[in-house]
Amino acid sequence: MLQRAIDPTKYPEDDIQEATVRPKRLDEYIGQDQIKDRVKVIIEAAKARGEAIDHILLYGPPGLGKTTLATIIANEMGVKIHSTSGPAIERPGDVASILSKLQPFEVLFIDEIHRLPRPVEEMLYSAMEDFKVDFVYGKGPNAGTVTLPLPPFTLIGATTRLALLSSPLRGRFGDIFRLEYQDIDSMAAIVKRAANILKVGITDEGALEIARRSRGTPRVAIRLLRRVRDYAQVRADHLIDHETACKALDIQGVDELGLDEVDRRILLAIIEKFDGGPVGLETLAASISEEPDTIMDVYEPYLLILGFIQRTPRGRVATRRAYDHLSIPYPESKSKTENNTEQPTLWENNEDDE
Ligand SMILES: Nc1ncnc2c1ncn2[C@@H]1O[C@H](COP(=O)(O)OP(=O)(O)O)[C@@H](O)[C@H]1O
Ligand SMILES: [Mg+2]
Repeated sequence: MLQRAIDPTKYPEDDIQEATVRPKRLDEYIGQDQIKDRVKVIIEAAKARGEAIDHILLYGPPGLGKTTLATIIANEMGVKIHSTSGPAIERPGDVASILSKLQPFEVLFIDEIHRLPRPVEEMLYSAMEDFKVDFVYGKGPNAGTVTLPLPPFTLIGATTRLALLSSPLRGRFGDIFRLEYQDIDSMAAIVKRAANILKVGITDEGALEIARRSRGTPRVAIRLLRRVRDYAQVRADHLIDHETACKALDIQGVDELGLDEVDRRILLAIIEKFDGGPVGLETLAASISEEPDTIMDVYEPYLLILGFIQRTPRGRVATRRAYDHLSIPYPESKSKTENNTEQPTLWENNEDDE
């Protein structure tokens, strides 16, 4: 299956470049100003007290900078980061062995923390709260426990699905930060910074155009930048100006709002096959041969943010804005029943899971 330019989840091609482009210090981390301010204070205070910083939970859609921020926090504390992920830790013994390697103040980063198996999660409770883990050995009357003391450490968890995190686990984080879709200026700055590192010339207008089509998501911006760079290299004498950016992005099938062909197929299906909706997710997915999960995780969040679709108890509905964007006349019959809804902005998040 063709790799989608606008899919915010990570592909192998991203890994290679992300290592070079990824900011290492807090002052290189663009946007997310409120979180940055709080992180600065937390780090300074912990350093002044000579303590580990409190456990931090980062949540938000893929590609917004959770892993990057976790790495930066460890760098700023001057400590090592040990990275793992929820699905990678299968048994309590696995987490115990990771914990036993931690030195004082070090960071344990658990990505996709909502996917930790239950027994592993339970072992983390005492590790997080009391810096110790209890092992049970033997069975029946011969059973006993040994306690392994741990150095003070910081757990940083990341999740795209806060709603799937159990409340005992959630409650053990001192700070919970929600990463936001980035605004257009921050996005343009991220594009320029990455262009600089990738050694490709770019004008302000060129950077803005890539920013505008990147769905408020740094990972998407950097991926689009790489594709535009390829085009600029062969067709435009290595400089990304406005015209080059537009042409290259048009070829990628990414329109001026950052929608690609699948977004358009989703909207067209709701409008043409289901009379504007409501239509259930499964039915919609089947009608365009996509996975329901892909629609929900990759496409729908941004269509909701643009106010192109609405979720109702009976399914997805295409709004007037969607008809306008596709240059399809909005049916008169719908105008009468239309409810006036505020357009959500890029800065509001769609938190709910189904
Ligand atoms: N605030 C930011 N400033 C600069 N680059 C960023 C920022 N946030 C994310 N990036 C870039 O976007 C890419 C994806 O970020 P990442 O931390 O892997 O996202 P997540 O873990 O939330 O999926 C990285 O290559 C990183 O360089
Ligand atoms: Mg990540």
